[in-house]
Amino acid sequence: MNKLIIHGGKRLKGEVEISGAKNAALPIIAATLLTKGSSVIVKVPNLRDVITMGKLLNHLGAEFYYEDRKAFINTEKVKIFEAPYDLVRTMRASVLVLGPLLAKFGKAKVSLPGGCAIGARPINLHLMGLEKMGAKIELQSGYVVANARRLKGTSIYFDIPTVTGTENLMMAATLAKGTTLLENAAREPEVVDLANALISMGAKIRGAGNSIIEIEGVDGLKPVEYSVIPDRIEAGTFMTFAGVTGGDIFIKGCRPDHLDALIIKLKEAGLIFEQKPEGIKVIGPSRPKATDVKTMPYPGFPTDMQAQFMTLMSIAEGTSVIKETVFENRFMHVAELRRMGADIIVEGSTATVKGISRLRGAPLMATDLRASASLIVAALAAEGETVIHRIYHLERGYERIEEKLLGIGANIKKVKEQ
Ligand code: UD1
Repeated sequence: MNKLIIHGGKRLKGEVEISGAKNAALPIIAATLLTKGSSVIVKVPNLRDVITMGKLLNHLGAEFYYEDRKAFINTEKVKIFEAPYDLVRTMRASVLVLGPLLAKFGKAKVSLPGGCAIGARPINLHLMGLEKMGAKIELQSGYVVANARRLKGTSIYFDIPTVTGTENLMMAATLAKGTTLLENAAREPEVVDLANALISMGAKIRGAGNSIIEIEGVDGLKPVEYSVIPDRIEAGTFMTFAGVTGGDIFIKGCRPDHLDALIIKLKEAGLIFEQKPEGIKVIGPSRPKATDVKTMPYPGFPTDMQAQFMTLMSIAEGTSVIKETVFENRFMHVAELRRMGADIIVEGSTATVKGISRLRGAPLMATDLRASASLIVAALAAEGETVIHRIYHLERGYERIEEKLLGIGANIKKVKEQ
């Protein structure tokens, strides 16, 4: 396992290029299971989660080959319809093969994901939707076993807008008989990107990006060549790096229109933005101002930016209140930030952050993916040395993060744990 050693306090300056979005690439790769033949997905980030999805496709009998940010997938020989526990355990997004397998082959067996560091994260809404489409679902020894002759279009209402749930059911509905309406659907840009990829495959989808999505089932889909959108959370994370270091970073190739809520809040916190055709320049203040946020499904403030934003607030002038409404246990980073001197009190789903003038470096333990990113934000801001252990999670979601940071002047080193 690797660890990161960071000496904080340096002003970051320069340009970074944003990678393709992991959370768009994963469902689009899964969607190729709806087709028969060779697809090429472009701008796929080189991340552990992508490799895990590739292993899963290999396990199903598909060919998966990754090179130079491209995933080459051939689905002609898919003959196994099971996502085993060992793969789902390491990556919850493995559950995204459920909808495509069931719609295309009439059967699927997927391990139940179980809990994870940020909460229980059930998949009951995925299963409710598939049942409404006529699938027979059983739970057997920790696995969801689903069968259907051909799924049928219907109206499905989500009690909570779920991102992977919307994606799973949208994929399933593309090959169903008749029209499916997904109501209170997730509106995230990654859902829209998946819809666009499916439309390129020949699917009939209207309304992705709104809370009602209409999918008219077709008899078959064809392989595609498709390029995924830039990663809005990676871009947002670099904005917070500029925010804590008084930096001046040009974030190239991002889509600021996917980051409206975050950018509005970062402006309130004192960051300055200059939009250019190729990206956005971010200039950090000498000290951020306290700003309250509440996480919400898109287009609200993203839960995947909550930890990084809280770290920015830990050195702000004044007190901010941060409310997490999407996941029930997403404050794992607080204990680590406190070890660096942060003054944060958590009560239920609310964190009250009293800004201090400087964090101090400390040995830290990374927990989930975005919490790990927030520890880098903290380390860059802190006085002295910070060692972040167990960066395994970070490698699931941020492509070459230490190289990108080195390129803009950070004092950062990745070393093997003894
Ligand atoms: C996706 C993202 C993740 C992000 C999250 C919220 C991927 C691979 N991951 O995760 O990075 O943090 O969206 O933006 O795209 N829920 C249920 N029942 C269900 C499904 C969800 O109760 O069947 C609840 C969850 O517990 C959570 C809320 O709905 O409280 C939203 O979760 P969801 O949108 O499903 O998150 P993911 O799709 O797992």
